[in-house]
Amino acid sequence: MKRFTSVLVSALMLFGISGAFTVQADPADAPAFTADDVRNLQDYLTTVPADLSLKDKPYDFSGDKCWNAADLTLMKRGLLPEAPQNNTIVVYFSRTGNTEKIAEYLIELTGAGSYEIEAAVPYSDADIAYGNSSCRANQEQNDKTVRPEIAEPIASLDGYDTVFLGYPIWWGEEPRIIDTFLESYDFSEKTVIPFCTSASSGISVSEKNIAELVPIGNQLTGRRFAASASKDSVKSWYDSLPLETEQKLILTVNGQELTAELADSTAAKELAEKLKAEPISVMLNEYGGFEKVGKLPWSLTKSDESIVTGAGDIMLYQGNQMTVFYDSNTWSYTRLGHINITQEALKNILGDGNVTVEMSVK
Ligand SMILES: Cc1cc2nc3c(=O)[nH]c(=O)nc-3n(C[C@H](O)[C@H](O)[C@H](O)COP(=O)(O)O)c2cc1C
Repeated sequence: MKRFTSVLVSALMLFGISGAFTVQADPADAPAFTADDVRNLQDYLTTVPADLSLKDKPYDFSGDKCWNAADLTLMKRGLLPEAPQNNTIVVYFSRTGNTEKIAEYLIELTGAGSYEIEAAVPYSDADIAYGNSSCRANQEQNDKTVRPEIAEPIASLDGYDTVFLGYPIWWGEEPRIIDTFLESYDFSEKTVIPFCTSASSGISVSEKNIAELVPIGNQLTGRRFAASASKDSVKSWYDSLPLETEQKLILTVNGQELTAELADSTAAKELAEKLKAEPISVMLNEYGGFEKVGKLPWSLTKSDESIVTGAGDIMLYQGNQMTVFYDSNTWSYTRLGHINITQEALKNILGDGNVTVEMSVK
């Protein structure tokens, strides 16, 4: 069994290779870190590009002239973008601000992330003077193969399940730069919801183009707005969308209800489906001073990986057992979910011995 020390050893090995700095064991004055930090650190260490130069970076947070495990943990927080809190993003292109206004209403209403598509070569007023048959926009719209370059492409859409995609209608269609965007990422498992503004044209031709351009997991029917559309009209549309609300796992233990986020794994989806059909009761046995583990009535699809668990983690073990962790362990598991709770509170609720857990989803 590896515990935190093994993560530290990995850190030493990884950074030892670069030879960029000295590492020492935990000093007494190291900043406090949590099981989540350790997990984050491990995630970071397994994903950091080998050629990332960290030389001269000011990550000696404890000020001891060395980089230690706590510094590495804090460095990870500084280097990696925070995982999106909301799995929805509003992406839009807007040359004269009309679509941007609708996008802003959506962002306010949903709390979603946002990304504005901007052209590497910006569209000047002359470029969009569509009364002039040879203006840039008209030339682009006349050639379905044109893919205008995007100025600063968003690095990744991972972590976003739902993408609102906004654009103006140009000659009845989406501007070609929207095609550039669509062809740059994988939408095969995402929900995409187009919206547009126009002088009068509808959205349907662009919706068909989008559907035919790239594989999209679930493309919802979009909406055309007038430039003058109100926030209320955007809200009514948003409220009418058949968007799935995120399911939560409910564990009732010793009369207390615990709510868990479901993990992004096939096993977690299968678990949710099964519990939707029928809630179950599972006897969990105390094991090892760090977990309660019990047999599920069925097997779920394993996607095991080596995981440093933290308090609140719910894992699938060997495909047919569920473990609820109140402390750390490193082993091969498939993530099922996570209860956002302190270790102390969870330990109190779970108690010392074996315990029966009622499980359902809502
Ligand atoms: C090149 C070009 C072509 C356009 N073609 C159409 C069109 O076919 N139908 C329409 O209703 N509006 C058309 N418009 C008007 C825009 O769709 C409308 O002004 C839109 O709200 C602009 O959005 P934006 O401010 O986000 O760029 C066109 C505008 C431009 C610049």
